[in-house]
Amino acid sequence: MKKILILNGAGRKNGSTSALVNAFADGAKASGNEIREFFLHKMDIHGCMNCQGCGRESADFKNPCVQKDDMAQIYEAFLWCDIIVFASPVYWFSITGQLKTAVDRLYAMHRRYGVPNVIKPTVMLLTAGAPVFDQPMAWYSHFEKYCNWPNLGTVLGADKIDEARALGESIN
Ligand SMILES: Cc1cc2nc3c(=O)[nH]c(=O)nc-3n(C[C@H](O)[C@H](O)[C@H](O)COP(=O)(O)O)c2cc1C
Repeated sequence: MKKILILNGAGRKNGSTSALVNAFADGAKASGNEIREFFLHKMDIHGCMNCQGCGRESADFKNPCVQKDDMAQIYEAFLWCDIIVFASPVYWFSITGQLKTAVDRLYAMHRRYGVPNVIKPTVMLLTAGAPVFDQPMAWYSHFEKYCNWPNLGTVLGADKIDEARALGESIN
């Protein structure tokens, strides 16, 4: 049983990205995994200011950012989870601002713990109007490599519902 954090960066709660997320989550739950999903668009999450406050000795280990907003819930879930799922539609050849803003704020976890000390295997779920995923996948692969976080699977396309469910089921 794995604890899975899903960061859903879609703008639409019931769109095609959420359909992929739901299929993945259904599969993962069927295999006995535990899921916590955050629909980022409805959350109060501010952009990282690069103030480096999270790097101070005095910064709280559980909620290290100087900005006290809904990221507190995600920091808590980040420390709880074994696996992170990133989900996003492609917006202008990239992941959405909603997802990027939350990922930028995970920098505080990196400053407190150091990424080699927190290995979180990840999954990427992407949808798009046209099947061109090279830019968001370039971002993802650089990010994964830097963090040394293994990739458990990638689902590219709103039509890949069965693939998303099977990927969820494969986790145990
Ligand atoms: C602001 C914006 C930018 C978009 N840019 C792209 C793009 O660069 N490439 C693409 O294939 N689709 C683009 N799309 C289409 C969405 O990626 C596509 O409709 C996606 O499936 C929407 O996901 P959703 O159903 O979860 O909202 C864009 C949509 C919006 C609203």
